[in-house]
Amino acid sequence: MATISLTRIKAFIHSIRWKITVAYLLIIVVAFCVIGYSLIQLVGEYLFTQRTADDQRIANDLAKNCGDYLVAFDARSLYDTAMDNATTGQTRVLVLDKLCTVQVDSDSRLNGRRFITAEVERVINGADSDYGFYDTGSAVKPWFRAAFNGFSGVNVMTGLYASAIRGPGDELVGVLVYLSGVQEIYESLRDIQLKILIWLIIVAAAVMVVNAMVLRTVTRPIGELNTGISRMSQGDLSARVVVRGNNEFASLAKAFNSMSERLEQLDKSRSQFVSNASHELKTPLSTMKILIETLMYQEPLDPGMAKEFLGDINQEIDRLNRIVSDLLTLVSIDNGMKMNLSELDIGALLQEQVKRLTPLARENGIELDCSAKESVEVDGDTLKLQQVIYNIIDNAIKYTPRGGEVHCTLSRTGKKAVIKVSDTGVGIPESDLPHIFDRFYRVDKARSRETGGTGLGLSIVKQFVLLHGGTIDAASTFGKGTTFTIELPLSGKRQED
Ligand SMILES: Nc1ncnc2c1ncn2[C@@H]1O[C@H](COP(=O)(O)OP(=O)(O)O)[C@@H](O)[C@H]1O
Ligand SMILES: [Mg+2]
Repeated sequence: MATISLTRIKAFIHSIRWKITVAYLLIIVVAFCVIGYSLIQLVGEYLFTQRTADDQRIANDLAKNCGDYLVAFDARSLYDTAMDNATTGQTRVLVLDKLCTVQVDSDSRLNGRRFITAEVERVINGADSDYGFYDTGSAVKPWFRAAFNGFSGVNVMTGLYASAIRGPGDELVGVLVYLSGVQEIYESLRDIQLKILIWLIIVAAAVMVVNAMVLRTVTRPIGELNTGISRMSQGDLSARVVVRGNNEFASLAKAFNSMSERLEQLDKSRSQFVSNASHELKTPLSTMKILIETLMYQEPLDPGMAKEFLGDINQEIDRLNRIVSDLLTLVSIDNGMKMNLSELDIGALLQEQVKRLTPLARENGIELDCSAKESVEVDGDTLKLQQVIYNIIDNAIKYTPRGGEVHCTLSRTGKKAVIKVSDTGVGIPESDLPHIFDRFYRVDKARSRETGGTGLGLSIVKQFVLLHGGTIDAASTFGKGTTFTIELPLSGKRQED
């Protein structure tokens, strides 16, 4: 159990889904941190600049008012001025003499004590004014904190403004210290911080939801493809995936489907081929077995009949031989047959095959003629082109009844040599026409077998023509005749002429 969940967790961590999610989260957090930090800096700076300017002005004004009173030791007026400008819990006014002794404290607790901070020191040393911020809860010395306690609470930020009090001769007579709470600025900044955090959470959650939806559209087709591929690798070639939408995944799914369809077709045609081949081989074998058994059990042996049967057996062996050599030819085509190309005169080659088949035509009472007088050069493999033309004319003779005609023509059309073989034979029904180049396909099985056909001739012819970069087509009217048209590219040299 534990190992399963561990491997699952590992797989999840390695998944694209997880990596993209982490990347998104990182981007959002970093973006918000940068934006948040800059925003707080900007707003803080703005609020503090304004506040310090205001407070410093108050401190300077007070210092100006206090100058004469301090020189005259008018404690009453000093006290009144301090009290007038102090608000309980918000602001506090201290009047120090030159020695930093508190002469007047609006909160009275520091009266008579020395009050020295860095800002006060700087003013004593000649500066007109200075200011600083203190966390009255922690950052100040204990005595200072004690002095502040009750002033504006603990852990409260306070601004301290020191301003020089000058006498009539412009000499330094004391320092005015003005304390003012800035807690609300900190609070508004903390408020902004909190709002940014809330927005961060909201945006992150929204992005995660959208991300999950987008990832689903990405990972779902990948998962389906994965299942399809593993089904195929286990031998189930009927595996297909659902094509959704019109995106890259849809085209991937389409490509997968057409690939598996093609593989399934190939697989089917391969087993069909094996079954056809076995069947074709079995027929002559069964015939021979019957003939041999009949002879074996014949008592006494009739020499005349024996001779006839042996002749039949010989014919069946010839048939087997033809089928096997045709099959071997097809296998070598499938394995990428080597071509012995040379420039040859297809006209002469056609004449030669017509001459070779004339005796057969005569025997079958068929008139065979060839009107190819000119020489047309093509780049080809002589033996293969001989076999192509022989097969086509042989078929024409075989499938034409006595008294019929077979015509061969050769012409040059554009960059092609066009060979036509027409007969006035039995023709091919329209429904069979698209299949005649298929392996083992025969329109009339009985007739084909009678004439020694294997049903492989035209498929070999077609492969040979394709290997030459040519095309082959058949047009036929059932009962009237058939025309086969072969087009071969002219020899490279000739094409340039
Ligand atoms: N000239 C033709 N006229 C009529 N039918 C033909 C002709 N050529 C081929 N066919 C048909 O095409 C089938 C396939 O031809 P092919 O592959 O050469 O096989 P086969 O060994 O039967 O000759 C033949 O069985 C025949 O039915
Ligand atoms: Mg044939």
